[in-house]
Amino acid sequence: MKRLAIAVLISGRGTNLQALIDACADPDFPASIACVISNRPDAHGLQRARNANIPTRVVNHKEYETREAFEEALDEAVREFDVGLVCLAGFMRILTPAFVNRWRDRMINIHPSLLPAFRGLHTHERVIEAGVRITGCTVHYVTPEMDDGPIIIQAAVPVREDDSAEELAERVLMMEHKIYPEAVRLVALGKVRVAGTKVATEDAVFADNNLINPVAE
Ligand code: GRF
Repeated sequence: MKRLAIAVLISGRGTNLQALIDACADPDFPASIACVISNRPDAHGLQRARNANIPTRVVNHKEYETREAFEEALDEAVREFDVGLVCLAGFMRILTPAFVNRWRDRMINIHPSLLPAFRGLHTHERVIEAGVRITGCTVHYVTPEMDDGPIIIQAAVPVREDDSAEELAERVLMMEHKIYPEAVRLVALGKVRVAGTKVATEDAVFADNNLINPVAE
């Protein structure tokens, strides 16, 4: 089986990266991580990559005068590895349309809410503040607009009456770690494709048993 080579872009602790590393450790998983790239030299995720013998690169945004120059270097770093998919996993730089369009339909992201609700930062605080009963997480293709783009997979997580943002974040994160590898698997197997503003799926990809735990814990 030819596995899809992916680049994972991170900025921090890298627990989603770890979920992808763990999934890729299975030889039957249809993707493998060719490189991990961080914009922060101190990102803990870099250590996770090294522990798994995955090549790492740091493209430190602070060393570039402009966003364009930073993205040029980032693009070069990704291209060094001949990957078919870029996975943003807690990558905290906003990417310009130029970069996004270069990787159009070949770059995906995970966001800790049920998009299109609660785009942007401080998601869980805003979810609690809004009093919604159900939140969750989303893996989607990246388009120039932030936290937008065709949705590949989502999981729902109930919001408890007494939840703190931290508690809720932790429960959502557990679901993130399930759906991100699943999204990569579906992309790698060619079971999903971008069709306009949506993702089209092969029949039965999202049959009941594939819809991950929609409302239960
Ligand atoms: C996750 O909550 C992800 O949804 C968001 O950033 C966080 C990254 O966490 N985009 P980690 O670095 O993967 O632990």
